[in-house]
Amino acid sequence: MEKVYASAPGKLYIAGEYAVLNLGNPAIIVAVNQFITVELEPTNTQGTICSRYSNFMPIPWTRKNGHVYIDERENPFNYVVQALRMAESYVQSLHIPLHFYNVIIKSDLDNKDGRKYGLGSSAAVTVAVIKAVLKFYQVTYTDEMIYKLSVLTHLAINSNGSFGDIAASTYGGWIAYQKFDRTWLENKRHHLSIAQLIHLPWKHLMIQSLPQPKNLKLLIGWTGSPASTTHLVDQLQEDIQYQENYYDIFLKEAKEVVTTMITAFEQQDEATIMNCLLSYRYLLKQLSFHTGIIIETPALSALCQTALDFGAVAKSSGAGGGDCGIALISKKMDDSILLKQWQQQNIEQLNFNVYNQKEIDDE
Ligand code: PMV
Ligand code: MG
Repeated sequence: MEKVYASAPGKLYIAGEYAVLNLGNPAIIVAVNQFITVELEPTNTQGTICSRYSNFMPIPWTRKNGHVYIDERENPFNYVVQALRMAESYVQSLHIPLHFYNVIIKSDLDNKDGRKYGLGSSAAVTVAVIKAVLKFYQVTYTDEMIYKLSVLTHLAINSNGSFGDIAASTYGGWIAYQKFDRTWLENKRHHLSIAQLIHLPWKHLMIQSLPQPKNLKLLIGWTGSPASTTHLVDQLQEDIQYQENYYDIFLKEAKEVVTTMITAFEQQDEATIMNCLLSYRYLLKQLSFHTGIIIETPALSALCQTALDFGAVAKSSGAGGGDCGIALISKKMDDSILLKQWQQQNIEQLNFNVYNQKEIDDE
């Protein structure tokens, strides 16, 4: 066995957040060139896992009944352990003997004080671990297999998300994403093996690469306050029970805006892309008004207003409540004053680029 490395990028929602939790509503998501990297190093009788979450202390693991086992009282690695188990279950189904290894995890998705940027670290760590395990056992894989094994991992942890973060982290670049029918998959999970599940087309799943807008630049502003997506999504699901009529209207309008935006990406119609971004910001504000969930915090509003003042369009990204906002600006415009203003408002520009695996491989 040889040492292997695998990495997966972070992501940002461009449009379609919240609505994408509903079957049939698309979102546009982009991968950014900040990574979680996983190293697997072969060992003999037991393995360890080590990352910032264990203060870089290696935590031991072993196997029980063939499954990766870590003492729950010492486990800061829920996603990592579940991902190891899921990938190894698939490896075992191919009749490949299992080995021990150390898992070393490094992340660019936190700032230097260890605060998360909100770029989807649980998705990226899952994708990177699954890729690393398959590489370690020399199992060939496709993006679709990695996406599906990562989703099965998150389902095992009862994630309430749309898994759009996993799609962006797996496929890279700009993507249009629509989630699969979860009830259908939960039924299939009862009587199909992992190998069968990942080779089956998943009902309603759509992951489509979109061309990069040529003349637009994506700016990312970080508000410095972390937000819990899981908690915000739980809150939404509670609140919409009392707002059913309004929520149906939100879903319909969201679908119209995001579908128009996807076509605009395909046609490189940058004016429409920018208009749709603004329309989606407005829809999120309405959603916030009707449910009481704080999506655009005062810091995110300031970020958006400043961007608008300098000819860009902007909105909160993802669940909101903190984390990042995004702006789109024409490459012809000078963005230096905008960025200076952000700085004065305590908004840190994250100077990251879109990560496009395919382009990098072609170079
Ligand atoms: O806050 P983020 O970037 O993790 O985005 C969450 C997007 C939601 O639609 C609110 C949830 C989801 O899983 O799609
Ligand atoms: Mg977030």
